[in-house]
This record gives sequence, C-alpha cells and structure tokens, in this order.
Amino acid sequence: MKITVVGAGNVGATCANEIAIREFADELVLLDINEGITKGKALDLWQTSPILSFDTRIVPSAGNYEQTSESDVVVITAGLPRKPGMSRDDLISTNAKIIKDVVENLVKYSKDAILIVVSNPLDVMTYAAFLAADGLSSKKVFGMAGILDTARYKSFISRELNISPKSIHAILMGGHGDSMVPLPRYTTVSGIPIRELMDEEKLNEIIERTKKGGGELVNLMGTSAWYAPGAAAAQMVEAVVKNQRRVFPVCAALNGEYGLNNLHLGVPVVLGRNGIEQVIELKLNDEEIALVRKSAREVKELMKVLDDLNIFSRKFSHLDPVV
Ligand code: LAC
Repeated sequence: MKITVVGAGNVGATCANEIAIREFADELVLLDINEGITKGKALDLWQTSPILSFDTRIVPSAGNYEQTSESDVVVITAGLPRKPGMSRDDLISTNAKIIKDVVENLVKYSKDAILIVVSNPLDVMTYAAFLAADGLSSKKVFGMAGILDTARYKSFISRELNISPKSIHAILMGGHGDSMVPLPRYTTVSGIPIRELMDEEKLNEIIERTKKGGGELVNLMGTSAWYAPGAAAAQMVEAVVKNQRRVFPVCAALNGEYGLNNLHLGVPVVLGRNGIEQVIELKLNDEEIALVRKSAREVKELMKVLDDLNIFSRKFSHLDPVV
C-alpha cells in the first residue's frame, strides 16, 4: 500500500504522522513545494520510528510527482489556511489554482488513486479536485469535513454530559461551513437518544458552537486547526486501505440522493476500498431536509464563484442542485 500526503503543513504533517505510526501503508510520500519543510518533517517523523515502533517508509518529495506514482490513496491538504477574520470561502481563488495543479500532476502518475480533499473551502475544493481529475470516478474523489465536524459536536456533548467521547454517536450533513447540519435525531449516547439526556437549549448551544468550531480555533491560534483535521483525514484513509466499510459523513458527489444533484456535499456514506461504496439516504423530516437544501444552495453559490474564475473547462454551477 502506498499513500501520498500533499502538503507538509500542520494538517498534512499531522495526518502523515497518524498514517505512519498506525502503519496504514508500507510507503508514505510527503510532498510539498517547500523542500526544507518536507525533507525536515519526513526525517523528523522517520526518526520517531524506533521510539514508536513502526515500519512505514517515509519519502519526502519536493514537488516531484513522479515519486507519488502508483499511490493507492492521496490526501490533499495543500493550500492556504484561514487567518482570523477570513471565512473559508475567501480562499477559493488561491486554493483552486493549487488544487488544479496538484490533482493534474497526481493523476498523471496515479491513474486509479483515491483522492481525499482536505483543503478549504472544503466542498468547493472537492468539486475543484473532481473537475481536475477528469476521468477519475466521482466515487474516488471526496472530501474530509464531516468526521471533523461530528468530532467537534461529539466532543462538546461528551464534556457537557461528562460521558466518554467513545459513547457519543452522531451524524451530520451539509457543507463544511456555518450552514452545516448537525442532526440531533441521529445523535445518541450508546443508542440513547440525546434528547433523553440533554435539554433543547443546551443542545442548540452545542450545535451553534459546532457550526463555528473551525472559526473558534482560528481565533485562538491565528491559523486553522490541525490535530482534529489531520486525525479525521487519517481515519478516512484507514477506512479505505483496510476496506472497513465504516459509515462516515463525507463530502461526496450527489447524483439525485436527497433530491440533490450536480454538487458535492456532506452526506453519510459507506467508505471502503473503492472509496464511496454507498451513499446512505436518511429518512430526514421536512425541517432537516430544508436545512440540508439551504446548505446545498450555499455550496452552489461558492461553486459559481469558482466556475466564474474560468480555471476549469467543465462547469456544473449553472445546473440546479435540487432535482
Ligand atoms: C477547520 C478547518 C480545517 O474546520 O476547516 O478547522
């Protein structure tokens, strides 16, 4: 198994760390345009192998895509992170050009890889990667956000109830932005519906904090988070390389599911060796479906911003997302 992580910044390095330590691959390529950083981080990481006892060979690549050839899975974290006062959407133009360059180079050398997009604004960058990876099935190009967003939601619930995060189960849908849709009806504490353990006011507070969870960290640190985003991406890698068929919220191309089409949005999927093995359609109530469609429309607006930049020849934002 060969895995490539593109971008040796905070998120990429954290993800690479997890992949190496947990031996998800025999070879891990860490690619970045900054030669010193990628060589340094790959070396530092490899020097933890005798301490942490792992065999994953770590290969630094200073932008040489040939070294990524025949990768099974690629995690794309390249791009600028947010600074305080910026929304994820402010990054569209810069990061879309980076994604285009990265993906076009990657698919030259790995024609059948699974691409996991982590760069922001997430839903639109997943769309950009899909456009750039012309020829690659949309089941193999998807984005990481839902695992991170549900992790934040679960961690807040865990603290509030003083119950282990391992016992909190939840699903969340929609875009990776303020319009994301945590779903209390699908949130349980080991099967116990959350509303039996938490009042509505507290639950709403947690939902609102979750929606702004990324911004909370940007304000604290002056840049975006990395431990949870890196770990979330690595969990998706694990599901793929071990063919676990785990159910996660993932930013996926929709083809009529939830009455939505022509866009990438967070939905529950079964994740396995072929990427998105299945999109799970929850029986949402009217209120929930309205929130998901609102989020879809917001993502669509950003897709239009991307399409208007004329970076890609294919465009989908003019097509109505609602079937
Ligand atoms: C966050 C960034 C990585 O939510 O989008 O922390």
